[in-house]
Amino acid sequence: MSTQNLPLQAPADGAFYPAAIVGFEAADVGRYALRSPASGEVIAEIADCGSEQAKLAADNAQRGFESWRQTTAFERATLLKAWHRAMLEAKDVLALTMAREMGKPISEARGEVDYAASFLEWYAEQAKRIDGDILPAQHREKRLSVLRQPVGPVLAITPWNFPAAMITRKVAPGLAAGCSVIVKPAEQTPVTAILLAQLWQQVGGPAEVFQVITAERPAEISDLLMADARIRKVTFTGSTPVGKHLYAKSAATMKRMSLELGGHAPFLVFDDADIDAAVAEVMASKFRNGGQTCVCTNRVYVQRGIFEAFAERLAAAADALRVGQPEDEATQVGPLVSQAGRDKAQSHIDDALAQGARRLTAARDLEGFFVAPTVLADVTPAMQIMQEETFGPVAPLVVFDDEAEAVAAANDTPFGLAAYLWTRNLGRAHRVSEALDYGIVGVNDGAPSVPQAPFGGVKDSGIGREGGRYGIDEYLDTKFVSTRLDG
Ligand code: SIN
Repeated sequence: MSTQNLPLQAPADGAFYPAAIVGFEAADVGRYALRSPASGEVIAEIADCGSEQAKLAADNAQRGFESWRQTTAFERATLLKAWHRAMLEAKDVLALTMAREMGKPISEARGEVDYAASFLEWYAEQAKRIDGDILPAQHREKRLSVLRQPVGPVLAITPWNFPAAMITRKVAPGLAAGCSVIVKPAEQTPVTAILLAQLWQQVGGPAEVFQVITAERPAEISDLLMADARIRKVTFTGSTPVGKHLYAKSAATMKRMSLELGGHAPFLVFDDADIDAAVAEVMASKFRNGGQTCVCTNRVYVQRGIFEAFAERLAAAADALRVGQPEDEATQVGPLVSQAGRDKAQSHIDDALAQGARRLTAARDLEGFFVAPTVLADVTPAMQIMQEETFGPVAPLVVFDDEAEAVAAANDTPFGLAAYLWTRNLGRAHRVSEALDYGIVGVNDGAPSVPQAPFGGVKDSGIGREGGRYGIDEYLDTKFVSTRLDG
């Protein structure tokens, strides 16, 4: 069953989606039901692959790599550009797919398609800038050169919260570098990944160079591919415990690893802030994707002089958010992805309220996986919400008095992905952004992600960088060649 010949369509009525693996046979696998988080209805049936399909995918990826590595950067760039155009042309189908699979509001899902496609365009250009070095030699008869070569077949394990962008942010630099890639998408969002593979093949991309393996319980697949020495690199976005588990496993075959793990982002609002502008950036950072973003603001620290005014305006803005069905154009906050996701966000609210926090937003009568956008004041460090990532539409506010106190509180966590601050004081902007132990800092900017910039964290938030020229380095080995001309 070839992915290329299937109609490009968003999941509906339980339609079956085969895995995008060369030689895949639907009769060889079971299927799992994919349900909409908004309605609970079955929207698609997905191939539940196991070790046999993982082995097949790895065989193909090795073969694909042998030929793909021989292509020129210009050939790879041409295909990536064609894929970029095809993705934008398919924007409506891809956006609808994400809305149905994981509940992203449709207008935001269209924005994700643009964001995801931007990685293809950027790395199409960057493919042509992979260069090496000529080094000076001590001897007249020696020539020393440094080559940059693709690491080999890659396994990319991607999350459900950005079903398209987290694939292209990994696959585009991999393909640009000359690697083949197997994507194992989150079990909640397999269809977006399969549609991306269809588009890749439709523009002439070799099927064994970009494959998608799907499974409801992926442990068997990931165990097999982690143990396969032909897979030279693994790139993972997801939880810190799973990232650590993969990191430990990678030692056996010495794979290159990139891990983009959990965050717990602080947003520091200083009392010289333009309050409305700061509220707008906190809103953008906190409630994007219903708060289900690794770089989402998770804690808001506000300086005492502006605390009440800021809290009141933030609560009013959160109360004005339209919560609704993902496919409705007016919706700004959809359902959370799962019962577990909803329960975690709700338990953070309940725990904070039980320990004395004050709810500043109105309660809403919501069912299913929906959680009301919530702003909490009088929050203390002991509360659960101040210790771990919420992944939901909840903003806890904490008051602070001075810069040192705010920086210390912001850094008091094992996580270090993204942090934000709002100030009009130039000296403070530099001082605080340098002092924050994070991989990404937004100064007066709650939405800093762009394809040309490095994305990634420190400490328990992971290792390696995606995006920009830094991102392609992760897919390249450095080879030194020393040549004697008189040999
Ligand atoms: C993420 O949640 O990891 C992705 C967010 C982004 O790219 O800005």
